Amino acid sequence: METTIEKDNNSVTTKDSSKMAFELENTVPWGRNLGEYKAMFNLTGSDLDKRIISFGDGPASFNCEMSQLNKSVVSIDPIYRFSTAELKGRIEQTKDTVMEQTRKNSENFVWTRIKSADELETIRLSAMDSFLDDFEAGKSQGRYVNHQLPDRTPFDDLTFELGLSSHFLILYSQLGLDFHLACMTEMLRVAKQIRIFPLLDLDAKRSELLDSLVEHFRTDYRVGLEKTGYEFQKKGDQMLTIKRR
Ligand SMILES: C[S@@+](CC[C@H](N)C(=O)[O-])C[C@H]1O[C@@H](n2cnc3c(N)ncnc32)[C@H](O)[C@@H]1O
Repeated sequence: METTIEKDNNSVTTKDSSKMAFELENTVPWGRNLGEYKAMFNLTGSDLDKRIISFGDGPASFNCEMSQLNKSVVSIDPIYRFSTAELKGRIEQTKDTVMEQTRKNSENFVWTRIKSADELETIRLSAMDSFLDDFEAGKSQGRYVNHQLPDRTPFDDLTFELGLSSHFLILYSQLGLDFHLACMTEMLRVAKQIRIFPLLDLDAKRSELLDSLVEHFRTDYRVGLEKTGYEFQKKGDQMLTIKRR
């Protein structure tokens, strides 16, 4: 049973399919902020100055906040096909259910950085409000791109210095090894290095895919597991890093 995550954006139709439906009614938008991205990915000052692509960014405020700091981030996600009004309406429809599930499973989270479910709700809604305010401008500036991995992205090889995936790859382990290999291969085509957080699956267990992914990419890349400064799901404090040699 999927009892232990904030039930964010489970746009996955079936447990064993690599196909996802992105009808609005299957989408549960839920997004994190820049402070959380910095902690999840151990982003240093010089990392923040890199040209960044962030995969499965959804309604996170990472892109918006970075753009306000004149930093360079392109976010890709299939939910960017929807309008601001549609996403806003869907957040309104689903937020109470997400919070109810989080409260019900509160023993599965570490309440130090975020101190309570009420605070979590405030942080998430504030991040998503910032995203919604920025969405139209960001789309027209090419910062939000409607795209579904593992399809080939519209970017040349090594356009970006850093590629991120927060709470998408590995978390959705049920999409299978082939899906993950294809997505990560595309990420590594366009970015010199990638970081993926967390390394848990939807049941909050260490992903079964992890060893195979490490084994696969270590032939051609430098692969590491790094402890980060972020732990909200218990034991979810590590990221996978893959860099060109
Ligand atoms: C749990 S949300 C995480 C949002 C954001 N990264 C954060 O941490 O706040 C997962 C996101 O992955 C996106 N996603 C799911 N399947 C995808 C795919 N095949 N390609 C790109 N993004 C996908 C979803 O639309 C959703 O916005």
